[in-house]
Amino acid sequence: MTLRPLASDDQGEFLDLVSASEDLHRPWMSLPSTPQQFEAYVARYEKPDEESWLVCVRSTGVIAGMVNINSIIRGRLQSGALAYAAFAPTAGQGYMTEGLDLVVRYAFEQLRLHRLEAQIQPDNHASIRLIRRVGFRHEGDSPEFLFIDGAWRDHERWAITNTMIDIRPTAPHPTLPER
Ligand SMILES: CC(C)(COP(=O)(O)OP(=O)(O)OC[C@H]1O[C@@H](n2cnc3c(N)ncnc32)[C@H](O)[C@@H]1OP(=O)(O)O)[C@@H](O)C(=O)NCCC(=O)NCCS
Repeated sequence: MTLRPLASDDQGEFLDLVSASEDLHRPWMSLPSTPQQFEAYVARYEKPDEESWLVCVRSTGVIAGMVNINSIIRGRLQSGALAYAAFAPTAGQGYMTEGLDLVVRYAFEQLRLHRLEAQIQPDNHASIRLIRRVGFRHEGDSPEFLFIDGAWRDHERWAITNTMIDIRPTAPHPTLPER
């Protein structure tokens, strides 16, 4: 698998994949489904504190899924929150496991974050299996944590820190205080 940043000219393929993945994504994930929504989504991820990555099959370039790094906070936290989805035509083949692993490495080695979080509803078993496989640990539970599919939903809080996997050593991010 390979990662590439979401771009405006992905609109056609992205919207086709969202439409084909309606049953897979509902009720967990809501992605842009119209050209207007897609344009607003691309604009959102041009800002510095959020990144949107496409997980692509290396040999064909086909988009297999997406991973967003949301709410990047620097200073003493150095964290980001992940949102991710597979697309139906290529789901269930291990592509997202590999893609998420690449994003985790990128976030720790290139963005120099210390921590990534994923908030998951307790009934979303596929997502919990995936995040566990990538090495996240369950830190706890938060009632009414996120507004999803029209209501405030309870979520499990999963996280991974850069000390939990082998990564290339990097200098600390300049916004990290010395002590
Ligand atoms: C959660 C989600 C991203 C998982 O995607 P996925 O396609 O199942 O993930 P992978 O590509 O890593 O595939 C893993 C599955 O493929 C299987 N698999 C098949 N062939 C495989 C291979 N060659 N290598 C690895 N895994 C393989 C694995 O056993 C695994 O199955 P399991 O989940 O039953 O254990 C997907 O279900 C989804 O998009 N859900 C809706 C959106 C969502 O919930 N997002 C998260 C909100 S918190």
